[in-house]
Amino acid sequence: LFAGIDVGTSSVKAILVDNNGNIVAKKSVSLSLQTPRPGWSEQDPNEWWSATVTVLKEVIAEAREPISTLAVSGQMHSLVVLDSSRRVLHPSILWCDQRTKRQCEELTDRYGGEEKVIKALGNPILTGFTAPKILWMKENESEIYQRARYFMLPKDFIIFKLTGSITTEPSDASGTSIYSPISGKYDEKILDILGIDERRLPAVISSGEAVGKINAMEFSELSDTVVVQGGADNAAAAYGCGVETSGDTMVSLGTSGTVVTVLDKPVADFKHGVHLFNHVKKNVFYHMAVILSATNSLNWTLKRFSINMPFSEIEKMASSKNVGANGVIFLPYLNGERTPHRNPSARGVFFGLSSFNDTGDLLRAVYEGVAYALRDGYESILKLGDQINMVKIVGGGSKSKLWPQIISDNFNKAIQRISVDEGAAYGVARLAAESHGVNTSNWIKITDSIKPYQENAMRYNSFIELYRKLYTSLKERFQ
Ligand code: XUL
Repeated sequence: LFAGIDVGTSSVKAILVDNNGNIVAKKSVSLSLQTPRPGWSEQDPNEWWSATVTVLKEVIAEAREPISTLAVSGQMHSLVVLDSSRRVLHPSILWCDQRTKRQCEELTDRYGGEEKVIKALGNPILTGFTAPKILWMKENESEIYQRARYFMLPKDFIIFKLTGSITTEPSDASGTSIYSPISGKYDEKILDILGIDERRLPAVISSGEAVGKINAMEFSELSDTVVVQGGADNAAAAYGCGVETSGDTMVSLGTSGTVVTVLDKPVADFKHGVHLFNHVKKNVFYHMAVILSATNSLNWTLKRFSINMPFSEIEKMASSKNVGANGVIFLPYLNGERTPHRNPSARGVFFGLSSFNDTGDLLRAVYEGVAYALRDGYESILKLGDQINMVKIVGGGSKSKLWPQIISDNFNKAIQRISVDEGAAYGVARLAAESHGVNTSNWIKITDSIKPYQENAMRYNSFIELYRKLYTSLKERFQ
């Protein structure tokens, strides 16, 4: 059997997969998230580890065969800091945290301006990325910074806890603003500016390459299991749904939302806020548009408006409403926004409320607002000239009947769903199986294709205009 673990933001998940790609066990444990100040988001890496121990023990209990290989994926960009005894020194500052605006500017200036940064690193330095978090720590938590010995990413921390080795691989490293998907190395200039040397960062090996056997004392029963390097959650999720050759495209509707289009060359974007990262296969890359609050927008709305209903009821209410949610428009910028606005200060908006509106309109508006934001991302990728041959949808939100339909209407493009949607965990389980010599080419099967309704597509064209105007007229006002 092969194990895949995904260290997400809302949960840690573990799955076991057989040689044919069938899931034989799966478990997940929810995680807490701290927002100590507006725009800040933190988690405790030790909580990821204890959740990993729980879910892995639970799936092991259901395993009828030995687990030969295990791989891990995780949330991108979030910073984990360890001291010289390899203990966690600080809560992880997450991918959706916006505290580092000033540090991004400082790093960019010292590098010689944004164009130089993008040419060298493939991306501008953005608030969510890892390098500015290191500088933030140096400037704001100097005592902790003095004691810091290692800087790493969430999944690499879990791999370290399992094996004792500190490694990473290009799909995650390319999200740090330290490793370049263009040069395929850590960038010396940024290391110089940060004042750290490469030995404080994980060694970069390939996705699917063996790190070592499990030696964590919690898992003596897995001492023969080999851990192989995995991938960043978006790259792993793409691999898990067969989005792997040039033009293949994935929409991921999770806590964040992404649109990923695979490339065979590392082409950086200088204009539209689209990221360039390494995929989990060598010499394969992808463009990615990222929205910071996808299912998070729905979860936030349900929680803050005390809407306590099963998901089937929520779907029913939102589906019973017409296109346009009776005039309510939602801007899903609860954590700022990356693509296309690159604006950490952007904030969420409900617009157009009247006493006529009810809860169903609010819910419908949230579904639609997230779809508009994804459409902005999709169109940004199209502007780069990428050829998109097919679109698949994955992630928690893709289980909805309505949401993928609204996205398909907005993209005016058919969207496919797949039979096994375990996202990033499945993608790394696939890597684990391949490293063991298994041919996985028949693992991914398409179950249905959602086609756009032309009439709705036309109506969304006019609603998105208003959505875009709202952002433009409000953008100077966000604090
Ligand atoms: C991608 C990003 C998010 C996280 C979520 O750039 O920040 O999608 O990877 O885990």
